[in-house]
Amino acid sequence: MNKIIAIDGPAGSGKGTITKIIAEKLHLIYIDTGATYRAIALAALRNNLTLNDTDKIIELAKTLTIEFDENGKTYLNKEDVSNEIRSVEVTGVVSQISSIPEIREILVDLQRKMAHDKDVIMEGRDITTVVFPDTKYKFYLDADVNERARRRYIQNQEMGIESNLEEIIEAMKKRDYNDMHKPIGSLKRTEDQIYIDSTNMTIDEVVKKIITYIEEISKNETHESLTR
Ligand code: DC
Repeated sequence: MNKIIAIDGPAGSGKGTITKIIAEKLHLIYIDTGATYRAIALAALRNNLTLNDTDKIIELAKTLTIEFDENGKTYLNKEDVSNEIRSVEVTGVVSQISSIPEIREILVDLQRKMAHDKDVIMEGRDITTVVFPDTKYKFYLDADVNERARRRYIQNQEMGIESNLEEIIEAMKKRDYNDMHKPIGSLKRTEDQIYIDSTNMTIDEVVKKIITYIEEISKNETHESLTR
């Protein structure tokens, strides 16, 4: 059976960076589900749709193709939009667009197809609870909101995107609230996730910890299948 490593957590928890490193080390396909929601948000903005145009956003979403390449770049209708989907404008509307149940249905379906028959590491908000609730590899990566905002601020600087730390903290708190209170696919902590608080950990430490857990779960799975 193919291996699905599911990682959920709030914005700026380090999911993206950490998941990419683990994908490389363990030869897994990396799938950033946030990028799929961002691609739809970008398409909606380009078509001058507002958050009130729910039906039009759903219709538009049905016509789009969203793909990743082996380097993790995101393509919207074959166009590389990897940078544009990180803009302040997209970030400002994506959480609300991801609250539309029909959009979630379309994207959950796409995400499952992307993982079909492949060994993947997938990160998002509802991977452990909705997209792949039956996988044994479930992680919740967390960090204090001020630390997460600081990380996002540095990330923006590195990408040449101008931003203000206080504004990021406020926007992040709002997005956290929205992400945790969606009617479907909200970010949740559950008993069967392995919870990791990365506030005072280095990237390397988090990577090592998750890989150790993955190896342990994998060993137990092999043992279980041998004794079955
Ligand atoms: O991880 P990110 O910041 O790129 O995610 C962008 C938005 O998409 C975020 O506000 C929450 C939403 N999202 C979601 O609802 N479900 C997912 N599986 C991934 C992201």
